[in-house]
Amino acid sequence: DTKAITPPDIRSRKGGTPLVCLTAYTTPVARLVDPHCDVVLVGDSVGMVLHGLPSTLGVTLEMMITHGQAVRRGIKQALMVVDLPFGSYEESPEQAFRNAARVMSETGCTAVKLEGGETMAETIGFLAARGVPVMAHVGLTPQAINTIGGYRVQGRGGDAERIRRDAIAVSEAGAFAVVLEKVPEALARRITGEVAAPTIGIGASAACDGQILVVDDMLGLFGDFRPKFVKRYAELGEAAAAAIASYAHEVKERQFPAAEHVFADAPKHAGTQAT
Ligand code: KIV
Ligand code: NA
Repeated sequence: DTKAITPPDIRSRKGGTPLVCLTAYTTPVARLVDPHCDVVLVGDSVGMVLHGLPSTLGVTLEMMITHGQAVRRGIKQALMVVDLPFGSYEESPEQAFRNAARVMSETGCTAVKLEGGETMAETIGFLAARGVPVMAHVGLTPQAINTIGGYRVQGRGGDAERIRRDAIAVSEAGAFAVVLEKVPEALARRITGEVAAPTIGIGASAACDGQILVVDDMLGLFGDFRPKFVKRYAELGEAAAAAIASYAHEVKERQFPAAEHVFADAPKHAGTQAT
């Protein structure tokens, strides 16, 4: 049995071989990504990717727990992290602890992720001191979409210094890793050089200590969502559409089911089990 990766293992990978991270929301996808990943994140992106929501704001704790339970069954070695959804942790460190503990006990995940910098530092320290390892998330934070006003690159102008302070604050508060989303390369490199926790980039260049992508995005499964920072390693959406079109055609032409898919009245040979 392989030994599971722990938050201290991740923290100690600072500056080493880049950390490989992907999202998963289901058991079969967790099984596919687990052997290759250091971290598997049950992201609240599940709301947009699997449930058709317009943003991550409508994602509930119950959704995260249901998908977390599914992912748990598919992971053997990666560190499993579950996103705390909007509204489940911002109010107070106590609220964050109560909901994080519920997510950990009901899903069997090892850590949680939450969005926010200096504002969330106290909460991160409170959780870390009470047995809840925290992955932080700064730069573009999609749960703040309504205050930010869009999914633009963050830290290009005067807010670079704020993002730098956010990353330092969450790392000093005890986050075992920091997701840096959609920031320019120079800022990502500077932050990565300054914070003790490994930085995990998404749209933040190869200067980070690791990378994360939404697995459905990199597999080409999630519709027409093609941001610059997503490399499509496959076009599974196109492959699926072609397969479904073939099925529809063959059903209408009575080409499917063919002889090999059909049951005869009785087994052809004595002793052969009908299947
Ligand atoms: O929800 C998510 O998938 C995420 C990653 C993209 C970092 O937060
Ligand atoms: Na997220």
